[in-house]
Amino acid sequence: MKTALVLGAGGFIGSHLVKRLKREGLWVRGVDLKFPEFATTEADDFLIGDLRDQRVVREVIDRRFDEVYQLAADMGGAGYIFTGEHDADIMQNSATINLNVLDRCHKRNISRIFYSSSACMYPAYNQEDPDNPNCAEDSAYPAAPDSEYGWEKLFSERLYLAYARNHGMKCRVARYHNIFGPEGTWRGGKEKAPAAICRKVAETPDGGEIEIWGDGLQTRSFLYIDECVEGTIRLTRSDKTGPYNIGSDEMVTINQLAEIAMKAAGKKLTLKHIPGPLGVRGRNSDNRKISAELGWAPSVALTEGIAKTYCWIATQAMANRR
Ligand code: NAD
Ligand code: GDD
Repeated sequence: MKTALVLGAGGFIGSHLVKRLKREGLWVRGVDLKFPEFATTEADDFLIGDLRDQRVVREVIDRRFDEVYQLAADMGGAGYIFTGEHDADIMQNSATINLNVLDRCHKRNISRIFYSSSACMYPAYNQEDPDNPNCAEDSAYPAAPDSEYGWEKLFSERLYLAYARNHGMKCRVARYHNIFGPEGTWRGGKEKAPAAICRKVAETPDGGEIEIWGDGLQTRSFLYIDECVEGTIRLTRSDKTGPYNIGSDEMVTINQLAEIAMKAAGKKLTLKHIPGPLGVRGRNSDNRKISAELGWAPSVALTEGIAKTYCWIATQAMANRR
Protein backbone atom coordinates (compact mmCIF):
# COMPACT_ATOMS: atom_id res chain seq x y z
CA MET A 1 0.00 0.00 0.00
CA LYS A 2 1.28 3.48 -0.90
CA THR A 3 2.13 5.62 2.13
CA ALA A 4 2.07 9.36 2.75
CA LEU A 5 3.28 11.59 5.56
CA VAL A 6 1.45 14.90 6.03
CA LEU A 7 3.27 17.40 8.25
CA GLY A 8 0.92 20.13 9.48
CA ALA A 9 -1.99 17.66 9.23
CA GLY A 10 -3.86 19.46 12.02
CA GLY A 11 -4.01 22.65 9.96
CA PHE A 12 -6.38 23.86 7.27
CA ILE A 13 -4.75 22.57 4.07
CA GLY A 14 -3.16 19.54 5.76
CA SER A 15 -6.46 18.23 7.14
CA HIS A 16 -8.14 18.53 3.71
CA LEU A 17 -5.15 16.85 2.06
CA VAL A 18 -5.35 13.91 4.48
CA LYS A 19 -9.02 13.39 3.57
CA ARG A 20 -8.18 13.36 -0.14
CA LEU A 21 -5.24 10.94 0.27
CA LYS A 22 -7.44 8.60 2.32
CA ARG A 23 -10.12 8.69 -0.42
CA GLU A 24 -7.40 7.57 -2.83
CA GLY A 25 -6.57 4.59 -0.59
CA LEU A 26 -3.15 5.61 0.77
CA TRP A 27 -1.99 4.80 4.29
CA VAL A 28 -1.50 8.23 5.89
CA ARG A 29 0.41 9.45 8.92
CA GLY A 30 -0.36 12.99 10.08
CA VAL A 31 1.80 15.08 12.40
CA ASP A 32 1.03 18.41 14.07
CA LEU A 33 1.15 20.30 17.34
CA LYS A 34 -2.62 19.82 17.49
CA PHE A 35 -5.50 17.82 16.06
CA PRO A 36 -7.64 19.46 13.35
CA GLU A 37 -9.91 22.01 15.00
CA PHE A 38 -13.13 21.47 13.04
CA ALA A 39 -13.27 17.75 12.13
CA THR A 40 -11.85 14.43 13.27
CA THR A 41 -8.69 13.53 11.38
CA GLU A 42 -8.99 10.72 8.86
CA ALA A 43 -5.28 9.86 9.11
CA ASP A 44 -4.50 6.20 9.95
CA ASP A 45 -1.97 7.42 12.45
CA PHE A 46 -1.81 10.94 13.94
CA LEU A 47 1.14 11.97 16.05
CA ILE A 48 1.12 15.09 18.18
CA GLY A 49 4.64 16.49 18.14
CA ASP A 50 6.79 19.56 17.65
CA LEU A 51 8.76 19.40 14.40
CA ARG A 52 11.25 21.96 15.71
CA ASP A 53 12.54 19.15 17.91
CA GLN A 54 14.94 16.82 16.05
CA ARG A 55 14.05 13.90 18.35
CA VAL A 56 10.39 14.23 17.36
CA VAL A 57 11.33 14.47 13.69
CA ARG A 58 13.36 11.25 14.04
CA GLU A 59 10.37 9.51 15.63
CA VAL A 60 7.81 10.59 13.05
CA ILE A 61 10.04 9.98 10.03
CA ASP A 62 11.02 6.47 11.11
CA ARG A 63 10.52 4.77 7.75
CA ARG A 64 10.35 5.47 4.05
CA PHE A 65 7.17 7.15 2.87
CA ASP A 66 6.22 7.26 -0.81
CA GLU A 67 5.11 10.88 -0.49
CA VAL A 68 5.85 13.54 2.12
CA TYR A 69 3.83 16.78 2.24
CA GLN A 70 5.50 19.52 4.32
CA LEU A 71 2.80 22.02 5.29
CA ALA A 72 3.77 22.74 8.91
CA ALA A 73 4.60 26.42 9.45
CA ASP A 74 4.02 29.38 11.71
CA MET A 75 1.57 31.29 9.53
CA GLY A 76 -1.51 33.51 9.36
CA GLY A 77 -3.22 36.25 7.37
CA ALA A 78 -2.31 39.93 7.13
CA GLY A 79 -3.26 40.49 10.79
CA TYR A 80 -0.55 38.01 11.81
CA ILE A 81 2.31 38.33 9.32
CA PHE A 82 2.30 42.07 8.56
CA THR A 83 2.20 43.52 12.08
CA GLY A 84 5.89 42.71 12.67
CA GLU A 85 5.17 41.36 16.17
CA HIS A 86 5.71 37.71 15.23
CA ASP A 87 8.67 38.06 12.84
CA ALA A 88 11.29 36.32 14.98
CA ASP A 89 8.98 33.41 15.84
CA ILE A 90 7.85 32.95 12.24
CA MET A 91 11.42 32.80 10.92
CA GLN A 92 12.81 30.65 13.72
CA ASN A 93 9.90 28.20 13.88
CA SER A 94 9.34 27.60 10.19
CA ALA A 95 13.00 27.51 9.15
CA THR A 96 13.80 25.04 11.94
CA ILE A 97 10.95 22.75 10.86
CA ASN A 98 12.16 22.78 7.24
CA LEU A 99 15.82 22.19 8.13
CA ASN A 100 14.90 19.27 10.41
CA VAL A 101 12.39 17.63 8.10
CA LEU A 102 14.43 17.81 4.93
CA ASP A 103 17.58 16.50 6.55
CA ARG A 104 15.69 13.59 8.08
CA CYS A 105 13.98 12.72 4.79
CA HIS A 106 17.38 12.68 3.12
CA LYS A 107 18.83 10.38 5.80
CA ARG A 108 15.83 8.03 5.48
CA ASN A 109 16.21 7.91 1.68
CA ILE A 110 12.81 9.51 1.22
CA SER A 111 12.81 11.15 -2.15
CA ARG A 112 9.44 12.67 -3.00
CA ILE A 113 8.67 15.67 -0.80
CA PHE A 114 6.30 18.56 -1.41
CA TYR A 115 7.00 21.98 0.09
CA SER A 116 4.35 24.70 0.52
CA SER A 117 5.91 28.06 -0.20
CA SER A 118 3.87 31.24 -0.59
CA ALA A 119 3.18 34.09 -2.99
CA CYS A 120 4.46 36.25 -0.12
CA MET A 121 8.00 35.51 -1.39
CA TYR A 122 7.48 37.65 -4.52
CA PRO A 123 9.16 41.07 -4.54
CA ALA A 124 7.08 43.94 -3.20
CA TYR A 125 8.22 46.21 -6.07
CA ASN A 126 6.26 44.08 -8.57
CA GLN A 127 3.05 44.29 -6.53
CA GLU A 128 2.53 48.03 -6.24
CA ASP A 129 0.03 48.41 -9.09
CA PRO A 130 -3.25 46.80 -7.99
CA ASP A 131 -4.36 46.30 -11.61
CA ASN A 132 -1.17 44.78 -12.89
CA PRO A 133 0.87 42.82 -10.34
CA ASN A 134 3.64 40.56 -11.61
CA CYS A 135 3.81 37.17 -9.90
CA ALA A 136 5.37 35.12 -12.68
CA GLU A 137 7.61 32.44 -11.20
CA ASP A 138 10.73 33.94 -12.78
CA SER A 139 10.07 37.39 -11.26
CA ALA A 140 11.30 36.27 -7.83
CA TYR A 141 14.70 37.98 -8.11
CA PRO A 142 16.13 40.44 -7.16
CA ALA A 143 14.39 39.26 -3.99
CA ALA A 144 12.41 41.79 -1.94
CA PRO A 145 9.51 40.12 -0.10
CA ASP A 146 7.53 42.56 2.06
CA SER A 147 7.44 40.30 5.16
CA GLU A 148 9.81 38.08 7.15
CA TYR A 149 7.30 35.30 6.50
CA GLY A 150 8.03 35.75 2.78
CA TRP A 151 11.79 35.75 3.36
CA GLU A 152 11.61 32.48 5.29
CA LYS A 153 9.57 30.93 2.49
CA LEU A 154 12.19 32.04 -0.04
CA PHE A 155 15.02 30.63 2.08
CA SER A 156 13.21 27.32 2.52
CA GLU A 157 12.36 27.07 -1.18
CA ARG A 158 16.07 27.39 -1.87
CA LEU A 159 16.80 24.75 0.75
CA TYR A 160 14.47 22.24 -0.96
CA LEU A 161 15.89 23.09 -4.39
CA ALA A 162 19.44 22.61 -3.06
CA TYR A 163 18.59 19.13 -1.67
CA ALA A 164 17.04 18.28 -5.04
CA ARG A 165 20.21 19.35 -6.89
CA ASN A 166 22.82 17.98 -4.49
CA HIS A 167 21.10 14.79 -3.28
CA GLY A 168 18.85 13.93 -6.24
CA MET A 169 15.71 14.22 -4.11
CA LYS A 170 12.36 14.71 -5.87
CA CYS A 171 11.51 17.97 -4.10
CA ARG A 172 8.37 19.70 -5.38
CA VAL A 173 7.84 23.38 -4.55
CA ALA A 174 4.55 25.29 -4.84
CA ARG A 175 3.84 28.95 -4.15
CA TYR A 176 0.29 29.03 -2.78
CA HIS A 177 -1.84 32.13 -3.33
CA ASN A 178 -4.33 32.77 -0.50
CA ILE A 179 -6.18 29.48 -0.01
CA PHE A 180 -9.68 29.53 1.52
CA GLY A 181 -12.62 27.24 2.23
CA PRO A 182 -14.60 25.46 4.93
CA GLU A 183 -12.72 24.28 8.04
CA GLY A 184 -10.17 27.08 7.81
CA THR A 185 -9.30 29.51 10.61
CA TRP A 186 -12.14 32.07 10.71
CA ARG A 187 -11.40 34.05 13.89
CA GLY A 188 -8.70 34.67 16.49
CA GLY A 189 -6.28 36.87 14.51
CA LYS A 190 -4.73 34.42 12.03
CA GLU A 191 -7.70 34.35 9.63
CA LYS A 192 -7.26 35.64 6.08
CA ALA A 193 -9.53 38.08 4.26
CA PRO A 194 -12.08 35.57 2.82
CA ALA A 195 -12.78 34.01 6.23
CA ALA A 196 -12.62 37.34 8.11
CA ILE A 197 -15.05 39.00 5.71
CA CYS A 198 -17.44 36.02 5.68
CA ARG A 199 -17.42 36.11 9.50
CA LYS A 200 -18.11 39.84 9.62
CA VAL A 201 -20.96 39.47 7.11
CA ALA A 202 -22.41 36.52 9.05
CA GLU A 203 -22.30 38.37 12.36
CA THR A 204 -23.83 41.62 11.06
CA PRO A 205 -27.59 42.08 10.60
CA ASP A 206 -28.83 43.06 7.14
CA GLY A 207 -28.44 46.81 6.57
CA GLY A 208 -25.52 47.08 9.04
CA GLU A 209 -21.85 47.94 8.57
CA ILE A 210 -18.63 45.88 8.41
CA GLU A 211 -15.03 47.03 8.76
CA ILE A 212 -12.50 46.51 5.95
CA TRP A 213 -8.78 47.19 6.42
CA GLY A 214 -7.51 49.84 4.03
CA ASP A 215 -9.50 51.40 1.17
CA GLY A 216 -10.54 47.96 -0.10
CA LEU A 217 -9.03 48.69 -3.50
CA GLN A 218 -6.06 46.41 -2.89
CA THR A 219 -6.31 43.30 -5.09
CA ARG A 220 -5.83 39.58 -4.46
CA SER A 221 -6.85 36.23 -5.89
CA PHE A 222 -8.21 33.43 -3.71
CA LEU A 223 -8.01 29.70 -4.37
CA TYR A 224 -10.63 27.25 -3.17
CA ILE A 225 -9.23 24.47 -0.97
CA ASP A 226 -10.22 21.53 -3.20
CA GLU A 227 -8.29 23.04 -6.09
CA CYS A 228 -5.28 23.63 -3.85
CA VAL A 229 -5.27 19.95 -2.84
CA GLU A 230 -5.65 18.87 -6.48
CA GLY A 231 -2.72 21.03 -7.62
CA THR A 232 -0.59 19.89 -4.70
CA ILE A 233 -1.06 16.21 -5.47
CA ARG A 234 -0.57 16.69 -9.22
CA LEU A 235 2.69 18.57 -8.68
CA THR A 236 3.97 16.10 -6.09
CA ARG A 237 3.46 13.15 -8.42
CA SER A 238 4.80 14.94 -11.49
CA ASP A 239 8.37 14.88 -12.76
CA LYS A 240 8.69 18.66 -12.28
CA THR A 241 10.41 20.39 -9.38
CA GLY A 242 8.99 23.89 -9.65
CA PRO A 243 8.52 26.35 -8.08
CA TYR A 244 5.01 26.74 -9.50
CA ASN A 245 2.24 29.11 -8.52
CA ILE A 246 -0.78 27.26 -7.18
CA GLY A 247 -3.43 29.94 -7.10
CA SER A 248 -6.41 31.41 -8.87
CA ASP A 249 -5.95 34.08 -11.53
CA GLU A 250 -9.40 35.58 -10.86
CA MET A 251 -8.18 38.83 -9.33
CA VAL A 252 -10.64 40.96 -7.32
CA THR A 253 -10.44 43.96 -5.02
CA ILE A 254 -11.15 43.36 -1.35
CA ASN A 255 -14.31 45.48 -1.77
CA GLN A 256 -15.45 43.09 -4.52
CA LEU A 257 -14.67 40.14 -2.25
CA ALA A 258 -16.95 41.73 0.37
CA GLU A 259 -19.71 42.17 -2.24
CA ILE A 260 -19.43 38.48 -3.17
CA ALA A 261 -19.72 37.47 0.50
CA MET A 262 -22.76 39.73 0.95
CA LYS A 263 -24.38 38.17 -2.09
CA ALA A 264 -23.77 34.69 -0.67
CA ALA A 265 -25.45 35.86 2.55
CA GLY A 266 -28.30 37.69 0.82
CA LYS A 267 -27.42 40.84 2.78
CA LYS A 268 -26.68 44.44 1.88
CA LEU A 269 -24.13 45.98 4.22
CA THR A 270 -22.07 49.19 4.22
CA LEU A 271 -18.27 48.94 4.13
CA LYS A 272 -16.38 51.05 6.68
CA HIS A 273 -12.72 51.39 5.67
CA ILE A 274 -10.36 51.50 8.64
CA PRO A 275 -6.56 51.40 9.07
CA GLY A 276 -5.10 47.89 9.34
CA PRO A 277 -2.21 45.70 8.18
CA LEU A 278 -2.35 45.76 4.38
CA GLY A 279 0.52 43.87 2.75
CA VAL A 280 1.12 44.39 -0.94
CA ARG A 281 -1.19 46.61 -3.00
CA GLY A 282 -1.93 44.00 -5.64
CA ARG A 283 -1.38 40.26 -6.14
CA ASN A 284 -2.63 37.68 -8.61
CA SER A 285 -1.52 34.17 -9.49
CA ASP A 286 0.18 33.87 -12.87
CA ASN A 287 -0.85 30.42 -14.09
CA ARG A 288 0.92 30.34 -17.45
CA LYS A 289 3.82 28.16 -16.29
CA ILE A 290 1.77 25.54 -14.43
CA SER A 291 -0.73 25.35 -17.33
CA ALA A 292 2.03 24.88 -19.89
CA GLU A 293 4.19 22.46 -17.92
CA LEU A 294 1.69 20.46 -15.85
CA GLY A 295 -1.31 20.83 -18.15
CA TRP A 296 -3.47 21.95 -15.24
CA ALA A 297 -4.71 25.15 -13.64
CA PRO A 298 -7.57 25.81 -11.23
CA SER A 299 -10.99 26.80 -12.56
CA VAL A 300 -13.56 27.00 -9.72
CA ALA A 301 -15.18 30.47 -9.69
CA LEU A 302 -14.62 32.63 -6.60
CA THR A 303 -18.39 33.07 -6.14
CA GLU A 304 -18.80 29.29 -5.87
CA GLY A 305 -16.01 28.88 -3.30
CA ILE A 306 -17.20 31.84 -1.23
CA ALA A 307 -20.80 30.53 -1.23
CA LYS A 308 -19.62 27.23 0.33
CA THR A 309 -17.26 28.98 2.73
CA TYR A 310 -19.86 31.54 3.81
CA CYS A 311 -22.32 28.74 4.63
CA TRP A 312 -19.76 26.97 6.79
CA ILE A 313 -18.63 30.13 8.61
CA ALA A 314 -22.21 31.33 9.18
CA THR A 315 -22.97 27.97 10.82
CA GLN A 316 -19.86 28.24 13.00
CA ALA A 317 -20.71 31.82 13.97
CA MET A 318 -24.28 30.85 14.84
CA ALA A 319 -23.15 27.87 16.95
CA ASN A 320 -20.73 30.15 18.71
CA ARG A 321 -23.44 32.64 19.65
CA ARG A 322 -25.51 30.01 21.44
P1 NAD B 1 -2.33 26.24 9.12
O1 NAD B 1 -1.78 27.22 10.09
O2 NAD B 1 -3.78 25.92 9.20
O3 NAD B 1 -1.51 24.87 9.18
C1 NAD B 1 -0.17 24.80 9.54
C2 NAD B 1 -0.06 23.76 10.63
O4 NAD B 1 1.32 23.63 11.02
C3 NAD B 1 -0.83 24.13 11.91
O5 NAD B 1 -1.81 23.16 12.20
C4 NAD B 1 0.23 24.18 12.98
O6 NAD B 1 -0.18 23.71 14.25
C5 NAD B 1 1.32 23.30 12.39
N1 NAD B 1 2.62 23.59 13.01
C6 NAD B 1 3.16 24.81 13.24
N2 NAD B 1 4.33 24.69 13.90
C7 NAD B 1 4.52 23.35 14.08
C8 NAD B 1 5.53 22.60 14.72
N3 NAD B 1 6.57 23.20 15.30
N4 NAD B 1 5.42 21.26 14.74
C9 NAD B 1 4.35 20.64 14.17
N5 NAD B 1 3.35 21.32 13.56
C10 NAD B 1 3.43 22.65 13.51
O7 NAD B 1 -1.95 26.80 7.67
P2 NAD B 1 -2.44 26.31 6.24
O8 NAD B 1 -3.30 27.38 5.69
O9 NAD B 1 -2.96 24.92 6.33
O10 NAD B 1 -1.05 26.36 5.45
C11 NAD B 1 -0.27 25.20 5.21
C12 NAD B 1 1.04 25.60 4.56
O11 NAD B 1 0.79 26.33 3.35
C13 NAD B 1 1.93 26.52 5.41
O12 NAD B 1 3.27 26.20 5.19
C14 NAD B 1 1.63 27.90 4.86
O13 NAD B 1 2.68 28.81 5.10
C15 NAD B 1 1.46 27.58 3.39
N6 NAD B 1 0.65 28.60 2.71
C16 NAD B 1 -0.68 28.72 3.00
C17 NAD B 1 -1.43 29.71 2.37
C18 NAD B 1 -2.88 29.90 2.66
O14 NAD B 1 -3.49 30.81 2.09
N7 NAD B 1 -3.48 29.09 3.52
C19 NAD B 1 -0.83 30.56 1.43
C20 NAD B 1 0.53 30.40 1.17
C21 NAD B 1 1.27 29.40 1.80
N1 GDD C 1 -7.16 39.17 7.25
C1 GDD C 1 -7.91 40.24 6.94
N2 GDD C 1 -8.98 40.54 7.74
N3 GDD C 1 -7.58 40.98 5.86
C2 GDD C 1 -8.37 42.03 5.58
C3 GDD C 1 -9.48 42.39 6.33
C4 GDD C 1 -9.80 41.61 7.48
O1 GDD C 1 -10.76 41.84 8.21
N4 GDD C 1 -10.05 43.49 5.78
C5 GDD C 1 -9.32 43.79 4.72
N5 GDD C 1 -8.28 42.94 4.59
C6 GDD C 1 -7.22 43.03 3.58
C7 GDD C 1 -5.80 43.00 4.15
O2 GDD C 1 -5.46 44.26 4.68
C8 GDD C 1 -5.00 42.65 2.89
O3 GDD C 1 -4.71 43.82 2.16
C9 GDD C 1 -5.98 41.76 2.10
O4 GDD C 1 -7.28 41.94 2.71
C10 GDD C 1 -5.63 40.29 2.11
O5 GDD C 1 -5.38 39.91 3.45
P1 GDD C 1 -5.10 38.39 3.89
O6 GDD C 1 -6.04 37.51 3.19
O7 GDD C 1 -5.15 38.36 5.39
O8 GDD C 1 -3.58 38.16 3.50
P2 GDD C 1 -2.67 38.35 2.19
O9 GDD C 1 -3.40 38.03 0.93
O10 GDD C 1 -2.06 39.70 2.24
O11 GDD C 1 -1.59 37.23 2.46
C11 GDD C 1 -2.07 35.90 2.58
O12 GDD C 1 -1.81 35.15 1.44
C12 GDD C 1 -0.50 34.70 1.28
C13 GDD C 1 -0.37 33.95 -0.02
O13 GDD C 1 -0.91 34.65 -1.07
C14 GDD C 1 -1.54 35.28 3.87
O14 GDD C 1 -2.38 34.23 4.28
C15 GDD C 1 -0.18 34.73 3.74
O15 GDD C 1 0.14 33.96 4.91
C16 GDD C 1 -0.13 33.86 2.50
O16 GDD C 1 1.15 33.31 2.36
